[in-house]
Amino acid sequence: MKIINTILEMQAFSSLRRKAGKKLGFVPTMGALHKGHLELVKQAVKENDVVVCSIFVNPIQFNNPDDLKKYPRTFEKDSAMLNDVGCDVIFYPSVEEMYPEPVTRVYDFGNLEKVMEGKFRPGHFNGVAVVVKKLFDIVMPQRAYFGEKDFQQLAIIKALVKMENLDVEIVPCPIVREDDGLAMSSRNVRLSPEHRKHAPRIYETLVKARNMFPVSTVAEVQKEVAKIIENEPFMQLEYFEVSDLETLEPVSENKPGKSVIGCIAVHMGDVRLIDNMIFNL
Ligand code: PAJ
Repeated sequence: MKIINTILEMQAFSSLRRKAGKKLGFVPTMGALHKGHLELVKQAVKENDVVVCSIFVNPIQFNNPDDLKKYPRTFEKDSAMLNDVGCDVIFYPSVEEMYPEPVTRVYDFGNLEKVMEGKFRPGHFNGVAVVVKKLFDIVMPQRAYFGEKDFQQLAIIKALVKMENLDVEIVPCPIVREDDGLAMSSRNVRLSPEHRKHAPRIYETLVKARNMFPVSTVAEVQKEVAKIIENEPFMQLEYFEVSDLETLEPVSENKPGKSVIGCIAVHMGDVRLIDNMIFNL
């Protein structure tokens, strides 16, 4: 496995492989890898000739400086894990390499960036779009893999590809969970043992909401979720939205035959956790 730190070397590598007719799969990450990330890499290994994984803690997508500072950085462990699952290249640039000049680009994703994560993390999706566009220009993949854990991010990336006419196929990958249901996340290691014990309640609440959905109104489901989370001793509910799968607009009525997605964000101490689940009638 190769480790590449510069944009020029990464572009040269990808150009050569593409000229040789190879299919390039790409998995962008911020490191602190867990099994959820590795499933994306494994799928990319199955479907492509060459797989590149980037590790870059992107400062411009953090709206909370403390979150950026505390973001776990575990490069040695990450590279061993990537090697084991057959990744060919880690693109591991510095902040100076990626952003030699201040970033001025501002995207307009309309309502997609105004709801849920967008509402509570101003500037977050612009930072994600800027870095992903830049990474696509550098790595030049034919396919890129994103987790449904960050469902709104996935919608933003699909919109970015359309808006910029990018020649990249976006491959969505299902949420990978711990045995107790907690969605895997790089932030889980920052939960105290007691908070970690309670954290699967988020998943259990989504399952309850999914089971209620066919026989309840959206308002009833929302009320129940709020009640459960508010009664949890270590949890503060930031939002729970029932949204359209494509536009992510809030849905207020359940219509037969139309699937929706329940999206939740919860604070436990200074850790913010998100999760989601598709509900069908
Ligand atoms: P990061 O949080 O490191 O996640 C990298 C990829 O792994 C994302 O596509 C995310 O959705 C996916 N992922 C994380 N946890 C997962 C889980 N439990 N199951 C399935 N997939 C999971 O998302 C980012 O980094 C950044 O915003 C990035 C796209 C790299 C831009 O900086």
